[in-house]
Amino acid sequence: MSIQQKQLTIGLFGFSVVGTGLYKVLQQSPSLNANIKKVCIKHPEKKREAPESLFTIDPELLLQDNDINVVVELIDDADAAYHIVTRALSSGKAVVSANKKMIAEHLPELLALQKKYDVPFLYESACCASIPVIRNLEEYYDNDLLQSFSGIVNGSTNYILTRVFQDKLDFDEALVLAQAEGFAESNPALDVEGIDALNKLSILLTHAYGIVANPNEIVHCGIQNLQTHDAIFAKEKGYEIKLVAQAKKLEDGNVAAFVLPQFVDNTNQLYNVRNEYNGVIIESGLADKQFFYGKGAGSFPTASAVLSDLSALRYDYKYEYKKLNNKIAGELTNDFFLRVYVSFEGLFQVPHEKFERIEEWSSSEKRCHVIGIIQFSKLKNSDWWKKKGTSLIVLPDAFAEHIAIKEETEESYLVLV
Ligand code: HSE
Repeated sequence: MSIQQKQLTIGLFGFSVVGTGLYKVLQQSPSLNANIKKVCIKHPEKKREAPESLFTIDPELLLQDNDINVVVELIDDADAAYHIVTRALSSGKAVVSANKKMIAEHLPELLALQKKYDVPFLYESACCASIPVIRNLEEYYDNDLLQSFSGIVNGSTNYILTRVFQDKLDFDEALVLAQAEGFAESNPALDVEGIDALNKLSILLTHAYGIVANPNEIVHCGIQNLQTHDAIFAKEKGYEIKLVAQAKKLEDGNVAAFVLPQFVDNTNQLYNVRNEYNGVIIESGLADKQFFYGKGAGSFPTASAVLSDLSALRYDYKYEYKKLNNKIAGELTNDFFLRVYVSFEGLFQVPHEKFERIEEWSSSEKRCHVIGIIQFSKLKNSDWWKKKGTSLIVLPDAFAEHIAIKEETEESYLVLV
């Protein structure tokens, strides 16, 4: 006996990079039993490769249409997206969204709405585009076994780092290319300053550990402060610099999480993740390390995840938020130590008192760096390390949980004063 598949009648919001991709892909997927009834757009004057009759500028034509049982929200404006999604869920329509900013900023409200109206709200495309990471964390990894995940979750910054460090392009030139390819957010500062990665991390934390965190509470920095000196250091040591979103369950059961640039060596699978590709390493008690790799931005890779959500809706799939609802949720902690490299202009700006222990330092007239152990809670409560001209990069053996900081002598400070 075959399982009954639902007919999906879609109201689509947005017809830019991803919306166009979805439209094309759906035309090639007749077996999906899904058709787009109406598309709501903002700029009717733009030329589009689809019949004019499909488009409207009136959202009510979609939201009040009882035939439409799925709303796919692929617009750029997070506030407008929130309005559309809450209206659609409240009227019993299933929703698929790619809007990581909107989801991360409104998770508690969106969780409550799903519960109240018992409707599916799927957003696989919001994290790592073509990599099915949300559903894997949700369905496959039991909370007790999930030790950590770390990933390159922003395609634009990875693309920029590749172009800058591999092809020696200027940062600005590389950003323009990322924008031209359709990888970057319309406000590229969200990519460059690590906020897009932060939003994705906060969504992943919910599915991995049942943690619903306000993104602003999580330590983060993007690639905006990286310097040529850092690239030279990386090359000398055989590292690559990547922007990594990381979460790790510590020995006390609490979870450390942050988005920061990291040096990765060639034993780390993220080392070879280049261009707009994303990669996520998931570490669990039994399976050890697993590595997911795929395109993390762009029209078709993102549309492929939206398509997969639509496909799941035919069987009424919903996220169960297992870890959250089973009351085994972890808690975020800032109570740990991290091994970091900090580079800065001029010897007298050495923030030696910020370190618990200094392991290496070097200085030249133009730029200096220090490697040492830092108390993470001090990073959270300060911003000296984010100031223009200073760059902080996490080292490969990052976690220094067992450091006996009190044993430290004054020696390490003396070298710098
Ligand atoms: N700007 C995002 C990125 C798009 O570069 O990853 C995909 O979420």
